[in-house]
Amino acid sequence: MGDHQPISRRTFIKAAAVVTGVIAAGGAAVLRLGAFGRVLDTAPHELPGSLYVERLRQIVTQDPGHTRVIMWEAARAEGLVVEVCEEGAAEGNARRFPASAAYFSDDGIDVRQYTAAVEGLSPGTSYRYRVAAGDTATNWQPLFAPARDETYKMLIFPDSQSSDYSDWIRMAHLAWARNTDAQIFCNMGDLVDNGEDRAQWVAFFSGIDEMQRAIPFVPVMGNHETYDRSWKVRLPAAYLNYFDVPKNGSMQFERYYYSFDYGDVHYVVLCTQQQEIGDFKDGLVEEQLAWIRRDINARRRKWNVVLMHKDVLQYRINGRPERTEGFSEDGNIWMPVFDELGIDIVFTAHLHTYRNRGHIFHFAKTPDKKGPLYIITGVAGNVRYPNLWVDHAMDEATLPQPETDNYLTMEVGADAVEIACFLPDGTEMDRVRVEKNKSLKKRDGRQRGTSHF
Ligand SMILES: [Fe+2]
Ligand SMILES: [Fe+2]
Repeated sequence: MGDHQPISRRTFIKAAAVVTGVIAAGGAAVLRLGAFGRVLDTAPHELPGSLYVERLRQIVTQDPGHTRVIMWEAARAEGLVVEVCEEGAAEGNARRFPASAAYFSDDGIDVRQYTAAVEGLSPGTSYRYRVAAGDTATNWQPLFAPARDETYKMLIFPDSQSSDYSDWIRMAHLAWARNTDAQIFCNMGDLVDNGEDRAQWVAFFSGIDEMQRAIPFVPVMGNHETYDRSWKVRLPAAYLNYFDVPKNGSMQFERYYYSFDYGDVHYVVLCTQQQEIGDFKDGLVEEQLAWIRRDINARRRKWNVVLMHKDVLQYRINGRPERTEGFSEDGNIWMPVFDELGIDIVFTAHLHTYRNRGHIFHFAKTPDKKGPLYIITGVAGNVRYPNLWVDHAMDEATLPQPETDNYLTMEVGADAVEIACFLPDGTEMDRVRVEKNKSLKKRDGRQRGTSHF
């Protein structure tokens, strides 16, 4: 939630984050803990004869069927490469992709991270990869390049921002343990409560440690990524450094927003931080409005899905009678564009509540369920707003109040997309199926109508 500026500095992480790594042999993570248990030095410390890396992660690229970005942190500076070979092939056949240093300094800490661009993958092929340097290397990790007609599952996590990340870490691990067949995962923004706080980033990453090694991550920028340690707005420096997402060709807002394809789905990841970013530079909305039309028209797929942090509806708030029900600033900007472009599904976040609002077209429900399906994805950290929101006339499904955490799956099939919402214990709370309306498709020649059952 960011309609207000945070008014107090939150309690910082109490316990040392569980920092796991990928290690070849003989090494160990060394964490220096302060008097209050806060991680003061989170840089990897390599022991002789080992290659120790941390936060090894796959980042989504525009075309994951052919390319992948691999990022990680490591103490070693020289000779780092990513080796990739087909699953089952001999190590001698591995192709090598050089790593480049992507160091940055933030929150008073030098983050020694690296990035490597893997190219030349064949769609529909299973690979393995590892980080190597000289005669040392990490363990092999899986890497899959999806086919154009891939059927797959995506894991979707709402806001993970927390004052204590243990709930997030537990739920993210449980969600992954139950869904190791997922091929890709995203977080809908507000990954951390404070976008400058390195200890919070370390805690966030520890929730997705195993998952991000094995499948590509789709980050969405939230407003909390733009807060500094004084709770003032800044540009999202750490977020932009941690996630080398696809370029969008912008001079001013490179990687703030982006798009990619996975199977027969085109995903548009919008940046809804125009208020926060507007303190520093103008034009974020106007630029994205021009870009999304070019992007969708050039790269439309069978399914077209939008991921954006701030929600499209405005909810009434208990105890604030002056606040009316309706559509938010972002809804007024974007919903007509989504109607125009035939977007199928829109995922949002920011209000820390799960609500399935069904299909909305021209700001209304239609009998034939035209327009995108709008899902606000819930909450995945411990910042919860019990009994805050008043139900909206557009709501079709909510979770029992007060809400705890939840996650979602989206299964992309040959003819339908199915979205389900789960509690941390795996209890399914909601499920919605979206199918292409073939009669609409035939009539106007565009794959724009959807209906859900
Ligand atoms: Fe949030
Ligand atoms: Fe937010």
